[in-house]
Amino acid sequence: MTAQRIDALSPGTFELDGHEVEFAPGDTVLQAATRAGRHIPHLCWKEGLSAHASCRVCTVTVNGRSGAACTVQAATGQVVRSDTPELNEQRKTLLEMLFVEGNHFCPGCEKSGDCLLQANAYDMKMTGPHFEALSPTCPVDASHPDVWLDRNRCILCGLCVRASAELDGKHVFAVGGHGIHSHLLVDSPSGQLGDSALSLSDRAAHICPVGALLPKRRGFVVPIGQRRFDAVPLAQQPEPDLP
Ligand code: SF4
Ligand code: FES
Repeated sequence: MTAQRIDALSPGTFELDGHEVEFAPGDTVLQAATRAGRHIPHLCWKEGLSAHASCRVCTVTVNGRSGAACTVQAATGQVVRSDTPELNEQRKTLLEMLFVEGNHFCPGCEKSGDCLLQANAYDMKMTGPHFEALSPTCPVDASHPDVWLDRNRCILCGLCVRASAELDGKHVFAVGGHGIHSHLLVDSPSGQLGDSALSLSDRAAHICPVGALLPKRRGFVVPIGQRRFDAVPLAQQPEPDLP
């Protein structure tokens, strides 16, 4: 067993951008930082679910080497850098690519002000995507009585996949295809939400960080201007990963 592995199995501290952060055995860097109130940007991670490590927005350097903070085990003595111009520039580029892969028209989206993609983009000072828009034309799935799915906004974070499997005890969602053809699958005879096992009370129905999977009949219940990120930027939210 390596010295680093032994360190990770004991409580300890590491340094994050000049601040000491305590960790518990088994913590990842992102888990420990979040618990300590230190924000590391992320999209596809949420406490209580297994890590997916697909978005790479949480990429930090640990002792000079790049790694996804949601999967790197915390260990005593690590020197972690997250809030640097280089890493934030990389994050901004990743976010720009996500914006052009889908149709993210914030002014017309019910999730605006409560969207992690939008909030991360504001935090990274993204002014506009510098890539060609792919402008997908996926049909909207409005077949479920209580939840609708717009794959044009799906960033394939996999949170609904894991929430359905790990929290709801169902397997309503999966990600299929490869590369640019990756897409969200629904487990039902028709492939649509309407005859799937999803119910409104499922955690999966409420976990989407963007406006791809949304409960119906909630539009503008919270007015624009009074939403989660309208007043307090993402990086200053006390528990930014919680729904
Ligand atoms: Fe993530 Fe939402 Fe797409 Fe599910 S529907 S993979 S939660 S973006
Ligand atoms: Fe770590 Fe997405 S939050 S890769």
